[in-house]
Amino acid sequence: MSTYTEDLRKVTTRRLIEMKQRGEKISMLTAYDYSMATLIDQAGMDVILVGDSASNVMCGNITTLPITLDQMIYHGRAVMNAVKRALVVVDMPFGSYQGNSKEAVASAIRIMKETGADCVKLEGGAEIKESIERILSAGIPIMGHLGLTPQSINKFGTYTVRAKEKAEAQKLIEDAHLLEELGCFAIVLEKIPAKLAEQVAKELTIPIIGIGAGGGVDGQVLVMHDMLGINKGFSPRFLRRYADLNSVITEAVQNYIKDVKTSDFPNEKEQY
Ligand code: KIV
Repeated sequence: MSTYTEDLRKVTTRRLIEMKQRGEKISMLTAYDYSMATLIDQAGMDVILVGDSASNVMCGNITTLPITLDQMIYHGRAVMNAVKRALVVVDMPFGSYQGNSKEAVASAIRIMKETGADCVKLEGGAEIKESIERILSAGIPIMGHLGLTPQSINKFGTYTVRAKEKAEAQKLIEDAHLLEELGCFAIVLEKIPAKLAEQVAKELTIPIIGIGAGGGVDGQVLVMHDMLGINKGFSPRFLRRYADLNSVITEAVQNYIKDVKTSDFPNEKEQY
């Protein structure tokens, strides 16, 4: 367990709000499979996000749009088989909640029943109000997601910083207040100016988790493959790499290939 994680109790939505109240920053990272989720949970992470970024980092798709509800449930179940302490959030995939609110609640119920996760995350504000209300009315906690919302990439046309203009910043502030009023327990703000994110974090009582949103928010989230340096082709300014697993894994695999080719592996002790 991390030296920053003294409290070994299961993390809940209520405990995240208490962390904000006492000024304790919230750590959040993505995971998509049992083995990595085990390591991340044992290291003391507060929140594990089964992100629809699985579409990119697990499947190689260019966007998050192709991943299906069944695939998100598969990843969610694998992570839930591992996690003992962290709060687990599963992303609702594109097309599973935007159409109508009945479909949205049916999708959210499937995620909760079939993965055992703690809550779901949805991208958007006022435009998905009905879906949020219906899902919350079923007793399912929701984490919101505003700013750069990758499921809307075809509308934006680019992954650059959002809400730099006054009108978009104002809409984001209004959407954040709306999500809090509706009953969301936290919001992810992605790739927006740090000052705007800090203002939202100050105005709202629920935790604001940033990715590319500066240090004035209540917590940070990164995509695991990016921060561990598995995925070297993605280097936005906001990303800090904590390891170079790309080189570590490549070197290990090349050593294995060499040992097989030279008949060095297996040796006498490595056989029956
Ligand atoms: O899918 C994901 O990994 C996310 C994070 C970028 C917040 O939504």
